[in-house]
Amino acid sequence: MGMFKDMLSSGESLFKNEIALDFNFVPKLLPYRERQQHYIANCIKPLFMDRNGKNLLIHGSPGIGKTAAIKWIFRDLEEETDDVIHIYINCWKRNTTFKIYAAICEELGYKFTQNKKSDELLKVITTMLNKKQGVVIAFDEIDKAEDYDFLYSLLEEIYKKTILLITNYKLWINDLDERIKSRMIPELLEFQQYSRNETEGILKERIKYAFIPGVFEDDALRLIVDKTAEIKDIRSGIYMLREAGLAAEDASSREIKAEHSNAALLKLNDFSIENSDSLDANIKQILDIIKEKEKIKIGDLYNIYTEKGGNMPYRTFARRIKKLEQSKFVILEKIVGGPDGSTTIVKYNDATKKLTDF
Ligand SMILES: Nc1ncnc2c1ncn2[C@@H]1O[C@H](COP(=O)(O)OP(=O)(O)O)[C@@H](O)[C@H]1O
Ligand SMILES: [Mg+2]
Repeated sequence: MGMFKDMLSSGESLFKNEIALDFNFVPKLLPYRERQQHYIANCIKPLFMDRNGKNLLIHGSPGIGKTAAIKWIFRDLEEETDDVIHIYINCWKRNTTFKIYAAICEELGYKFTQNKKSDELLKVITTMLNKKQGVVIAFDEIDKAEDYDFLYSLLEEIYKKTILLITNYKLWINDLDERIKSRMIPELLEFQQYSRNETEGILKERIKYAFIPGVFEDDALRLIVDKTAEIKDIRSGIYMLREAGLAAEDASSREIKAEHSNAALLKLNDFSIENSDSLDANIKQILDIIKEKEKIKIGDLYNIYTEKGGNMPYRTFARRIKKLEQSKFVILEKIVGGPDGSTTIVKYNDATKKLTDF
């Protein structure tokens, strides 16, 4: 059975700790984000002195450590104190006031949320939270929430708090109700995209956590760093590290080599772009229009689509466009208060174009 001769013996793996490549993994250190971490910590600090905290709007493009920084701060907070509590809510998963209240109740260990109305849950929450020295609540992906009543109510009802809002779109704040804005008065904190050097530093560090020392060859790493620096999304980089490791294991190689990274780069297409052929005809047609125009207002795009015989209702259409954004086919840019009011510009994703050409 020569076939098995060179295989890694069973149980042997190139991975030391594959969990370190999970998207939810929070590394011990978060290099290049020290300034931002301090900034966030400073907004929370007054709570330790029995004063009110500061609110903060954190913004920056996807995959550059916004969520990681929050989780990092929260872990630190947990080690330091029981008096100032922290709650993390992802508004993509919990996108209405009711769902958000239910999630906060859950975090607080209050289980009797069934058959209760929003108002009743709010009462439970404020009663519990106002007994604490202070509360930090992070609403991640805040732009995905469908209504913002919860924000108004929590700002009004909770005495000592820091509210952290995290979004990919800075301009989202302009759309916010004046009543909320004037209560929130947030500071702004931008996360900038990482440079190539920083990208390399982060991925190298992650390799140390995740792989057996010495198995990741320099050439293999370089390919992944280059691609990650190009698309400016560390999440994709971490995904490629894992895929390269798996490709090497599949080939029973004891090192991760350039060829395995190349396989991972190809996989990235499946990950972020899915396969264009697998898109249904409707979506393909829409994507073709965007490709041709390069950038277009979502309303105009919908008009062209219906002129060409498309019959999806607008809401479904808008949802599909969101999906195209998630899978990185397009980039969405919200324009707030432009000459034609607020709208979304849909842009063809050039990085994707390069990836599909690969
Ligand atoms: N400075 C950093 N050091 C180590 N890992 C990082 C750093 N910045 C981002 N990451 C990792 O990159 C991935 C994407 O980061 P994340 O915080 O989820 O991005 P987003 O800005 O979209 O919230 C996560 O797995 C995170 O751990
Ligand atoms: Mg995030």
